[in-house]
Formats: sequence, C-alpha cells, structure tokens
Amino acid sequence: MLSKKEKQLIREIWERLTPVAEDIGADALLRMFASYPGTKTYFSHLDIGPGSAHLSSHGKKIVLAIAEGAKDISQLTVTLAPLQTLHAYQLRIDPTNFKLLSHCLLVTLACFMGEGFTPEAHAAIDKFLSAFAAVLAEKYR
Ligand code: HEM
Repeated sequence: MLSKKEKQLIREIWERLTPVAEDIGADALLRMFASYPGTKTYFSHLDIGPGSAHLSSHGKKIVLAIAEGAKDISQLTVTLAPLQTLHAYQLRIDPTNFKLLSHCLLVTLACFMGEGFTPEAHAAIDKFLSAFAAVLAEKYR
C-alpha cells in the first residue's frame, strides 16, 4: 500500500519522465530482452533491436501507460482494464513477465533519475510497479 506522500511522489516522478518516455521505455525493454531473453519471443513479429523504430515506439507506449496509471493509483484496475485484457487474452503474455519488466524499469529509472533516485523514491517506485504488475496479472485467475 502506498502512502499519500508516496502517491504524490509517484505522480511527480512519472510526470517528469513523460517527455523522455521513449528513451526510458526503450532502455527498459532492452534490459528485459538482454537479461531475460525468453521475453523476446513475444516480439518475434517486430524488429526490436537496439535503435529500432519499434523499440522506441513500443517503449514510449509502455511508459505513457504507466504515467497515466500514476495519475490516480486508486483507479489502477479501471485504467488498466483494456491492457489487462490485451495482455491476458490476446497476447497471452505469461504473467511472470510483468515482474521482469517492472524490475528492468526500476533499474532504468535508477540510471535516469540520478540523485532523484533516493531510497524513498526507490521504495515508492518499487511498490507502485509491483501494484501495476499485479493488476496486469489479475485477469489470469
Ligand atoms: C502491447 C503496456 C508488459 C508484451 C502493449 C501496449 C501497451 C503495453 C500500452 C500497446 C497497446 C496498444 O497498442 O493498444 C505494457 C505495460 C507493461 C507491459 C505498461 C508492464 C508494466 C508487457 C510484457 C510483455 C509485453 C512483460 C512481454 C514480455 C507486449 C506485446 C505487445 C504489447 C507483444 C504488442 C506489440 C505489438 O505488436 O505492437 N503493452 N506492457 N508487455 N505488449 Fe505490453
């Protein structure tokens, strides 16, 4: 559960990151593909190599979806409903992968945020991404 202060911090962080959504998303995806190569199988229909147009556009989509969710964390199940359905029923992504991407995003933010990545920010981002991943995995039950 995120405290009121943490929710505010999360809103501010993702608002600040929105202009660089493409860079952050691409970096997180590249980390996921490098560290957990099995995740690449879902993207075999696309060119997702370093510097590819699709890596950037897909990375941007992911970060904008997260930033949207960060605006009102209490409404995550509502905001994410279409993405839940897409990932569970259409794309059939194994839900364990959400935790892998969340972890990679955390590492990416640690790299991008510099001194802003305080222990408090780290903890809040970790909680938020865990909640986000859990909501995405809900439809599988
Ligand atoms: C598509 C978000 C995790 C695989 C998408 C889209 C968004 C999104 C916004 C585009 C939907 C659209 O075009 O309408 C997210 C978020 C995630 C997440 C926020 C977690 C934080 C994952 C994971 C995988 C995955 C872990 C697989 C390992 C895909 C694939 C597509 C997709 C294959 C379709 C790509 C295409 O054909 O263009 N996701 N996703 N996603 N996602 Fe995710």
